[in-house]
Amino acid sequence: MRISVIGSGYVGTTLAACFADLGHEVVNVDIDEEVVATINRGEPPIHEEGLPERVARHVTETGRLRATTDYDDVLETEATFVALPTPSRDDGSIDLSIMEAGTEQLGETLSTKEGWHTVVVKSTVVPGTTQDLIAPTVAAASGKALGEEIGVGMNPEFLREGTAVADFLEPDKVVLGADDDRTLADLRTVYEPLTERVDTAVVETGTREAEMMKYANNAFLAAKVSLINDLGNICKELGVDTYEVADAMGLDDRITRAFLDSGLGWGGSCFPKDVAAIVAAARDEGYEPPMLNAAVEVNDLMPARLLSLLDDHVDVDGKQVALLGLAFKPGTDDVRNTRSAALVRGLTDRGADVVAHDPAAVERMRASFPELDFAVADSPAEALDGAHACIVATAWPDYSALDDEFDAMAHPLVLDGRHCLEPRDGIVYEGLTW
Ligand code: UDX
Repeated sequence: MRISVIGSGYVGTTLAACFADLGHEVVNVDIDEEVVATINRGEPPIHEEGLPERVARHVTETGRLRATTDYDDVLETEATFVALPTPSRDDGSIDLSIMEAGTEQLGETLSTKEGWHTVVVKSTVVPGTTQDLIAPTVAAASGKALGEEIGVGMNPEFLREGTAVADFLEPDKVVLGADDDRTLADLRTVYEPLTERVDTAVVETGTREAEMMKYANNAFLAAKVSLINDLGNICKELGVDTYEVADAMGLDDRITRAFLDSGLGWGGSCFPKDVAAIVAAARDEGYEPPMLNAAVEVNDLMPARLLSLLDDHVDVDGKQVALLGLAFKPGTDDVRNTRSAALVRGLTDRGADVVAHDPAAVERMRASFPELDFAVADSPAEALDGAHACIVATAWPDYSALDDEFDAMAHPLVLDGRHCLEPRDGIVYEGLTW
């Protein structure tokens, strides 16, 4: 099938490269000329495992992937996936103006198209957005009748950063949301090469339900982590190792061990934003969801819990503290909603000199949080040298291998926020919830 993907961010680029992998002819549309030029050189514009080789292969060898700034190129395709940003407003609700402008431009472009075209919303949007905003926008701008000349569906993504390509190619489920048969048929055709190849559940549903499935998934997982952190805080107070408890809980088929890693909590581009957006959508309708509000409350508590453990051991005023990890999780350079930002703030409030290390995220941290005051070390050893405390905030595998490096600390206090170090002789080790 010939497919266009609008947007070359984390989701759009992954989607475009993976569709090309499935054998589709893909054109990726983005307004950013530099991003388009990067893709057309055969390089992904973002850091994501499995993408460099795929983008290179499909741009330079198979010829199934190219990028453009020209919306008219969607006319050569049969379906368009919209993967545009939906930033958060101050009240947590999502700002749909980029989606609206992008789909209006798409509709105008499609006004000259002969025959049927399917438009698919890929971005995470609150229930009703596809039906009540995007479909009417596309229909009005194109002058085409919905369900007769043009269809608008919704196909949420469940891609984790760092494993997005693998998540796409071996999904637990594929959700196809459509409000008419032809759109659903096109969605099935797009995913057929995948559903024929791997054993995955295909959920066919309406667009409102598809939209809600994405939020429900992320809200559930975020709340699961917050619940184990809430239990973890109790465990710590009572002298119990949360990880031993979680391992036993995970043996119950109704619970499973996944997303029971207690620690500093959740960050990233999805959990915080999606929970806030669905809470805001509920609030708009007059319902204030107590469980999801509590999930956020527990999550916000975790960096402060770790800093209070630090206060129990040492006064860091005027002293160096090593902060290992800035990315919101290992395997990515993404610092959106990283727990490390709250840690840097809390440490500088205490008068500490923060020396941070991260193998991938330093540049983004500087750019995203210019107000934060921290120095950067080239290696964990450099950050630890002379430090009065060390906080591990991201579970990068290299940190688990640290050993003699701790000997250079002025005071060998190690606070592990991610359960990724072993206690060892010569250090004072404190786990956040164990
Ligand atoms: C998430 C969803 O998993 C994915 O399906 C969705 O589409 C996008 O959001 P991502 O944000 O990339 O993916 O990261 P994920 O691996 O799910 O972790 C989210 C956050 O939860 C991270 O900050 C991670 O450190 C934290 N987490 C996860 C825990 O604290 N404990 C756990 O047991 C699991």
